[in-house]
Amino acid sequence: MRLRQNAFSDSPFPVQVLCETDSTNDALKRMRAAPHGTVLVTGRQTKGRGRLGRSFSSPEGGVYLSVLLRPNAPADKLLHLTAMAAVAVRRAINDCCGVAPEVKWTNDLVYGGRKLCGILTELVQTDGGLCAIVGIGVNCNTEPAQFPPEVRDIAISLREITGQVVDPNDLARCMVRRLFEMDAALLTEKKAWLTEYAAACVTVGKRVQVISGAERRPAFAEGIDENGALLVRWENGEIAAVSTGEVSVRGMYGYV
Ligand code: BTN
Repeated sequence: MRLRQNAFSDSPFPVQVLCETDSTNDALKRMRAAPHGTVLVTGRQTKGRGRLGRSFSSPEGGVYLSVLLRPNAPADKLLHLTAMAAVAVRRAINDCCGVAPEVKWTNDLVYGGRKLCGILTELVQTDGGLCAIVGIGVNCNTEPAQFPPEVRDIAISLREITGQVVDPNDLARCMVRRLFEMDAALLTEKKAWLTEYAAACVTVGKRVQVISGAERRPAFAEGIDENGALLVRWENGEIAAVSTGEVSVRGMYGYV
């Protein structure tokens, strides 16, 4: 099942369907004069990117979508954007196929401990002011054999969860609607959205390892703060807000 341009004629944001691209985030960066809310969506990326400079495997069967927002706020007022996007996509997946994934702090949606979706938010300064590009990759109908061997055991798709082929047009339409709703709420309803994020976050209440370069520091995840950062209690009892880097959760992605 393929994405079709005419499936998006009634979208609240303008949507362009691409057959294939390197990365929808990079394609949007090349269109930096594009209006607020411009969405690019494709079924295949040749150079998908993830957080921390990693690549993001983007085979046929996935939905890879980025939205360009011009939020009219400085970067330090947008720290919660990825967390709100996670809530928007979680709602969209539930709208589309009745599946309620959990959140793995900071930018993954997971189901049964396996990765269903990744989110990459990038801020770019343009002549028209600061813009945020939020890129989302969802394993929609991806078959296990389509994932590279190193992610096969930790990835899952909506098709595997539901036992049915999911129409990527339906999924992308639901995503655009929920991202539109998120944009309207971005600076005014942050608290309610972050409460929903924290309630869905599997990281909270678990023993974790905070990874920074070669260092792995054990901690307990206490909660989510008002910027979407993870509040951790180190073994010496001190509390810190972790806003970047990687946090492994016991029992997920091979961490035992
Ligand atoms: C991660 O898991 O670290 C984030 C993955 C983000 C992937 C999406 S797919 C659409 C957009 N284009 C990209 O190159 N990356 C994001």
